[in-house]
Amino acid sequence: MIRQTDDKFVLDTKSTTYAFRVLPTGQLEHLYYGKKIRLDDESGIYTDALCEKHEFAPGNNIVYDDKTQNYSLNDMRLEFSANGKGDNREPFIEVVHEDGSRTSDFVYTGAVIGKDKRVLINMPSSYDAQRDASTLTVTLSDKNYDLSVELIYHVFEDCDVITRSAALINNSKSNVKILRFMSVQIDTNDSNRVLSTFNGAWIREMKRVDRKLSRGRFVNDSCVGASSSTANPFVMFSKKCTCENLGPVYGFNLVYSGNHTEIAEVSEFGKLRFLSGINPKGFEYDLASGETFESPEAVMTFSDEGFNGMSHNMHRFVREHILRGRWAKEERPVLLNSWEAAYFDISESKLLKMAKAAKSVGIELFVMDDGWFGRRDDDKSSLGDWYPNTKKLPHGVNGLSEKIHDIGLKFGIWVEPEMISEDSDLYRAHPDWAMRIPGKPHSPGRNQMILDLANPEVCDHIITVLSDLFETGGIDYVKWDMNRNESDVYSPYLPPLRQGETSYRYMTGLYRILSALTEKFPDILFEGCASGGNRFDLGMLCYFSQIWGSDDTDASERVDIQTGYSYAYPPVTVSSHVSSVPNHQTLRVTPLETRFNVAAFANLGYECNLCDMDQATLDEVKKQVLLYKEWRSIFQNGRFYRGETVDNGNVVTWNVVSADGSASAGMMFRRLVVANDQRGVLKMHGLEGDKKYRFYSLPFKMDVRLFGDLINMISPVHVKNGSMIHDIISRFVKLDGEHEDTVTFGDALDLAGVELSPAYSSTGFNERTRVFPDFASRLYFAQKL
Ligand code: GLA
Repeated sequence: MIRQTDDKFVLDTKSTTYAFRVLPTGQLEHLYYGKKIRLDDESGIYTDALCEKHEFAPGNNIVYDDKTQNYSLNDMRLEFSANGKGDNREPFIEVVHEDGSRTSDFVYTGAVIGKDKRVLINMPSSYDAQRDASTLTVTLSDKNYDLSVELIYHVFEDCDVITRSAALINNSKSNVKILRFMSVQIDTNDSNRVLSTFNGAWIREMKRVDRKLSRGRFVNDSCVGASSSTANPFVMFSKKCTCENLGPVYGFNLVYSGNHTEIAEVSEFGKLRFLSGINPKGFEYDLASGETFESPEAVMTFSDEGFNGMSHNMHRFVREHILRGRWAKEERPVLLNSWEAAYFDISESKLLKMAKAAKSVGIELFVMDDGWFGRRDDDKSSLGDWYPNTKKLPHGVNGLSEKIHDIGLKFGIWVEPEMISEDSDLYRAHPDWAMRIPGKPHSPGRNQMILDLANPEVCDHIITVLSDLFETGGIDYVKWDMNRNESDVYSPYLPPLRQGETSYRYMTGLYRILSALTEKFPDILFEGCASGGNRFDLGMLCYFSQIWGSDDTDASERVDIQTGYSYAYPPVTVSSHVSSVPNHQTLRVTPLETRFNVAAFANLGYECNLCDMDQATLDEVKKQVLLYKEWRSIFQNGRFYRGETVDNGNVVTWNVVSADGSASAGMMFRRLVVANDQRGVLKMHGLEGDKKYRFYSLPFKMDVRLFGDLINMISPVHVKNGSMIHDIISRFVKLDGEHEDTVTFGDALDLAGVELSPAYSSTGFNERTRVFPDFASRLYFAQKL
């Protein structure tokens, strides 16, 4: 609900309030954002108490004009800031006018409250069913130049989210150069906050990094042409006391997949300014007379129920207002991907063998990864040549797809359409389609170049070629990859003076391609990927129903990576695969059970050669797939909770709850054994407090080899550890694992948890001992009685 009286604005969601007003000098003063407060009744809006009181501007600060000696914009909380009129902090907008001036003077000229969600022209945005008074457009106009700005607010009541974006309209006769134009700005007096960003690298995505803010500027940004695995656009502000289920947290994200920046600045007066939007680094945009430039949509939420409360708002928003099309609501199939099983060494016969094995364990979708097209035997060639390598696929893509369908599986394919190899027919035909500076050496990255998507002809070509592949190939699923960061940024298509628009236009070109293809092929399940999680953001999720979160399939690393994503993105947006051991990225050996348990809290897949597995392992995999299918709707779409981390992250717990609160699946993972530490408690959050639940784990058997030569404590004959005899015994003698089965109430599960069977601690073992070696984990379930 949005209310306005004259110069005051109040935006309410179910549990939050956002308020601002027009200053006497025409700028907008931010008044409040946080837990819901009462600011209005039938008789009007009462925000005077929230307005800062100013009598004398701080010495040596610039005042806005002669008449206003009592404040400086430098010491105001502003909704929108610009250069040149006394505010020395990071601005929302920076433009160069035709006369060379960089000063802007935007003041309030009007506002409209409506119900239609604004659809952005060049980029994706969230959607909403029409509701009364849910969109506010505030117009500001420059007093000296014919430029106006629209600040657009949309209220999503139920998920406690407010979105913001902005449009710059050039009403003048001349061009104006935009140097920056952000999406959101929030100023507050409370800078006593912890800023959390999600940083990482390839195969090490989404590590939460916390820092207490202090005087100065902190920048979280990406300038690689993608939202990046080094700095996700999602950030949080919290208090030192905030924990998973208690305390205030603000979450901010951006519906954009390119270069972005999030700036937190604490000023000389202790005010905190937060800005987020397109990264101004390397960006310039020439806005012609009569044109409009829109910034991407920023998403903000607040919860006083800790990090989990904030995540639940974001998850709900993503599920209901970002994901779209058939797959937004449909359960995702369990897949087998060929990459770690065979890399480039694929052929129809090999793939069919894998597919048959996949079918036998209950897998539903077979995905042919890289290596199927052109002359692609390694990563040095053929990107751009999207026709089958007939040596590997003698019957073409369609021939293979028919056979896979006959086996009873859906068929998926890998493509990397934004790229071009120097050694490709496409590059030989169109060297000017690559993003490179003509005549200058190009810095290499995975032996490939980026296509110039600022060129509409290139975008049209991609749409045509892929439409043909998807139409004729019998394709049910597409893994859309992007494996190169930008370098030597240059669009051969754009004139020299517009080169600062290249990265931005690349993104809008890409969005046009994705929108055309996803509309044309509504039944295809699209999965995004960019060397894993180099482009995991809300922009991509408007087209891709799920994203390959990381090229790292090591279960221990994945626990951290998935925990990182879970702050902003619901489990259904993340894909996670069980792979072989030693793991290909870390050479670490983790139990099959843990690899599955971790991957189950996302869209489950397998990425290993099932044909190389022995029957016992295949039987185990079959059981896993069956269990996942039984609980799939909860794993994919349940309400996800992170438990408080224990021992600096050595013990990690998660649980996910059905929409009606009747069932939950939980996991406990312990990275490294702690000697003589028998206790373990599992809490499950989000269940109905006054209802009784059966809490249980599944019965399982253990391999005696786990105990090494301790077998001699009970063996009548001496058994050499690792010997053939040891192997033979292990086939016949299986040990019962511990089994939990108890009844407890929802609130007890939430606050007290369940005391688990004691962990093995060297002084004895029986079937009630929880054997938890390094990287062990268990799944637990609760079902309402
Ligand atoms: C990237 C992806 C991988 C795989 C390879 C294929 O690295 O992230 O999953 O598809 O490309 O080349």
